[in-house]
Amino acid sequence: MKLLHLSTFFVALGGVVSARRRPALGYPQAPSVERAVVHHEEALFGRDEPSTSATDEVWDRCVCRGYTMMKQMQADDAGAGQLMSPSVDHVESQYAQGDDPEKWGWSTQNSSLFTFDENGLGIDKALDALKLSSKKYGAGGDNAGMLWRHDKEQKRDGKTYAATNATYNSIVNRKDHALISLGKFSPSYMAQKMDPKPNDLTELRKFSDVGFLQYRGFNGDGLDGSGTGLRYIIFAPVDNQFVVAVVGRALASTANQLEEWPGVSFPANSTEGFAILGSPYGTGVSMMLFQHKKEWGNKVVDKITIFKGSQETDATHPELPPNLVFELAGGS
Ligand SMILES: *[C@@H]1O[C@H](CO)[C@@H](O)[C@H](O)[C@H]1NC(C)=O
Ligand SMILES: *[C@@H]1O[C@H](CO)[C@@H](O)[C@H](O)[C@H]1NC(C)=O
Ligand SMILES: *[C@@H]1O[C@H](CO)[C@@H](O)[C@H](O)[C@H]1NC(C)=O
Repeated sequence: MKLLHLSTFFVALGGVVSARRRPALGYPQAPSVERAVVHHEEALFGRDEPSTSATDEVWDRCVCRGYTMMKQMQADDAGAGQLMSPSVDHVESQYAQGDDPEKWGWSTQNSSLFTFDENGLGIDKALDALKLSSKKYGAGGDNAGMLWRHDKEQKRDGKTYAATNATYNSIVNRKDHALISLGKFSPSYMAQKMDPKPNDLTELRKFSDVGFLQYRGFNGDGLDGSGTGLRYIIFAPVDNQFVVAVVGRALASTANQLEEWPGVSFPANSTEGFAILGSPYGTGVSMMLFQHKKEWGNKVVDKITIFKGSQETDATHPELPPNLVFELAGGS
C-alpha cells in the first residue's frame, strides 16, 4: 500500500517536471533547457543520476551529505575543512566581496520583470506570512531583481574561459534579509551542452558564490558589503528534477503532500531536513554559509519549508513544482 502510494506520487512528480510551467509574467526566461534534464550541482552528483525518483541509494547519500553539511555549517573554517573529502585546511571561498563579476565573464543587470502574485511566482502569501515585503524595489518595496548572465569570453593567464550563457536570476531583499532564486543555470551545467566542451570554466560559477555576491554586494554595484543578516534563501520554483525527487520523497515518507502555504516544514536537523540539505539546492545553500564564515560567522540552516505556489493550474499545466524556503539562524 505504502509502496503503491510512493510510486504513484513519483509518477505525478514526473509530470510536474516535464510539464512546462506557465511562464511567470515576463520575468526573464532562462535559456531553453529541457526540464527532464537533471541540473547537477558541480561534481557532487554523478552525470547518470536517476532523475525521476529518489531511490533508497540516492536518499541515503543525500541524508549523509546533508548531515555533513550541517556539521560544516556549525564548525569553524578549519573544522569544516576537516570534513571535506579529502580534508583541506580552509574552506573559505576566495570569491568574496571585492571580486569583480565582469572579470569572470559575467554581465550583471537590474531586473524588475517579475511578479509575486498568482500571475507570476505565486509566492506572495508566503512572503506576507514570513513578514517579507512583496513589493518591488522602486515601487515601495525592497525586492531588487538581479540577473547575471555569463556572456563574455575571457582570456587570462594563457587560458580562454568560454562564455557559457549561464544565468543566475535572483531577487535580493537586503532590508528583510532574503535572497530569492528564480532560476539558475550554472556554467558547469551549460558547459555540458556545449560542443566542443570548454577546457577552462569560469572559476566564479557556483550558486554558493554568485548568490553570496548578489546578496552581499560586489565592487561596482554601489552596495558592496551592505548585505548582512541573511535569514531566508528561497527557491521559487524548484527547477531541478533531482531536488524535486528528494523533496517528493521527504513529503511522501512523512505522509504529506505538496500543498499551498504554509506547506510542510522540516527542522534542518531531521532526516528529511538532512536529505534536502544534501540535495543540489541544499548543498548550494550550505556551501554559501560554510564558505563565508569570515563575512557571516557561523550561520546555519534551521528550518526548511516546502510549499506549492498559488498559480492556477489548467489542463496543459496540471501540476505545479514545489518552492523551497531555507530559514537561517545564527551568524551575522
Ligand atoms: C540597481 O538596483 C540597485 C538596488 O538594488 C540600485 O541601488 C542601483 O542604482 C540600480 N542600478 C541601476 C543601474 O539601475
Ligand atoms: C549564447 O547565446 C547566444 C545568443 O543567443 C548564442 O549566439 C551563442 O551561441 C550562445 N553560446 C553558447 C555557448 O551557448
Ligand atoms: C535541531 O535544531 C533545533 C533548532 O535549531 C534545535 O533546537 C535542536 O536542538 C537540534 N537538535 C539536534 C539534535 O541537534
